[in-house]
This record gives sequence, C-alpha cells and structure tokens, in this order.
Amino acid sequence: MPVVRLQQVTYYYPLTETPALQDINLEIEEGEFIAVIGPNGAGKSTLCYTLAGFIPHFYKGELQGTVEVDGRSTQDSNLSDWVLRVGLVFQNPFNQISGAKYTVFEEVAFGLENRGVPRNEMIQRVEEVLEMTGIADLAARSPYSLSGGQQQRVALASILVMQPKVLVLDEPTSQMDPIGTREVFGVIRKMAQKGMTVVMAEHKMEWIAQFADRVIALWEGKIFLEGKPQQVLTDERLAEKGFGVSRYTTTARLALSRGLWQAERPLPVTLEEAVSGFAAIRNGQSKGKP
Ligand SMILES: Nc1ncnc2c1ncn2[C@@H]1O[C@H](COP(=O)(O)OP(=O)(O)OP(=O)(O)O)[C@@H](O)[C@H]1O
Ligand SMILES: [Mg+2]
Repeated sequence: MPVVRLQQVTYYYPLTETPALQDINLEIEEGEFIAVIGPNGAGKSTLCYTLAGFIPHFYKGELQGTVEVDGRSTQDSNLSDWVLRVGLVFQNPFNQISGAKYTVFEEVAFGLENRGVPRNEMIQRVEEVLEMTGIADLAARSPYSLSGGQQQRVALASILVMQPKVLVLDEPTSQMDPIGTREVFGVIRKMAQKGMTVVMAEHKMEWIAQFADRVIALWEGKIFLEGKPQQVLTDERLAEKGFGVSRYTTTARLALSRGLWQAERPLPVTLEEAVSGFAAIRNGQSKGKP
C-alpha cells in the first residue's frame, strides 16, 4: 500500500488560467526518498504545497483530483491535523521562522509546545534533532542572527522534531555549501531508512543521484519523466527543456560522441562515476596497445 497517493491532480492558483499542476498521478511507498526536479516555474514548490495541504487550505484557487496520505485526503482534513502527517520545509527558510521566539532552541520547540507535549519529552526531542542537524551549538542564538544555510538547518530541525510520516522539502540546501549539503542529505537519508517517506524538490543532480530512490521530473506542471535517478538524470531531453544537467553527464555525452566513452556504459551523474568511466577507457586503450 503506498503511503502517498495523488490521483488526477490539477491545480490552478487564484485568478490564473494555466494550471500550475496538471494531471499528476503519483504513488509513493513508505520510506521512499523521492527527488523532484524541474526548471524554474515547473511546479516543484506547488507540488510540495499540495502534498503538505497548504493547497487547498492556505492557497485557494482550484484543486481537482485527490491527494491522500494513509488513505485520508487533504480535502477532508484540516491543516492543523495534516501537518502531523506531512511536514514541509519551505524553499525560503525565512518563511519558516515563527518570529515568536528568541532562540533556536525555542524555535525548534515551538511546534511541540503548541501541541502540549510534556516539557521533559520536548527538551529531549529538541536536543536530539539539534544534534542530528548539526546545530546544537546554535541553540542559544537568535534565529534571525544566522546565515541562510544555518536557517535552513533550523527549518529542517523544526519539522523533524514533529516526526511527520511524510517529510516534504523544497530545495532545503539551496543556501548551503557542499559540506552542509552532504550532511543534510545524510540526515534525510537516515530518516528515510527509518521509515519516513521523503519528497524533496532539488536542483543538485549529483546529490540526487547518490541519495534518492526515484526521480520525478516536472515540466510545465506535468510529470515529464519518472524513474531511477541515473536513468532520469541522464535523459537527453532534459537540457532542451531547461532542466539543470550534471556537468559530468554533459562531459561524458560529448566524450561519447567522440568515441571517448564506452557506449555500453551508463552516462555518469557524479564525479566518481565520471572518473571510473574515463579510467575504464584509458585502461581499455592501454590494454589494446601492442
Ligand atoms: N501564488 C501564486 N499565484 C499565481 N501563480 C503562481 C503562484 N505561485 C506560483 N505560481 C506559478 O505556478 C507555476 C509553478 O510555480 P512553482 O513555484 O511551483 O515552480 P517551481 O518549480 O517551484 O520553481 P522554482 O524553481 O523557481 O522554485 C509558475 O508558473 C508560477 O508562476
Ligand atoms: Mg520552487
């Protein structure tokens, strides 16, 4: 039984005539890590809002079809119940900060406090996620005094602490350096291994290739491609449609056209895959020499 099921989902923002999402059908299994890619305006954030119930409960407009988690639909739930099932980490971390709290610790505790979680349990859960997301040393700082990347960690922590069944992340590492990105992807993968279902809108192809189970490519509000990361991320139609493409894929495709990449070898997405592919060519050539 899939945890998440979208059937025939089409959505129009208020006063718009082109749908931001169109005919989306999607089933996601428990513990799956899905990456959503797409050029600017493809509908990635809109899909995140739809999963998280902000559409239709916050953004009005017109939603057709059904969005279900565990057999219950967003339309039949209210947002305050839904956030316990599906947690959303916003694209801009600034939008996540409550503005009501003076410290990172209080900020991360805010959701649990609102739910009336007993104080001891609250402290324990907050300390655990601060540790996990690498911001324990920021606990006493003001959320507003942090860098963008640090704010993104706080935003992630404040959602993880709620232990949602489904974690939706909208470009959660956009303001992070590669070290931060690796750490955050690591945390998220660990959560997925523990059974949390993850949907992440993301541009960073190399990271997706290493961490995601499945990739959904959105284009003009529709699912344009879907499948295993290597297969989707190296599809030759991506570039012409304005998707980002890994530089390693582009390089290897050029090499392939000049006979410098083994035709039977899948195109690389990551640096490691590219290096081993080029090493194989070199070894093959040196073996072939008399
Ligand atoms: N509040 C809104 N009202 C009307 N149209 C909107 C609204 N928000 C987004 N849109 C439109 O919906 C479409 C999808 O936008 P969305 O923000 O979901 O794209 P995205 O893939 O997240 O893009 P980005 O990579 O820039 O974050 C775009 O055409 C956008 O202009
Ligand atoms: Mg977006």
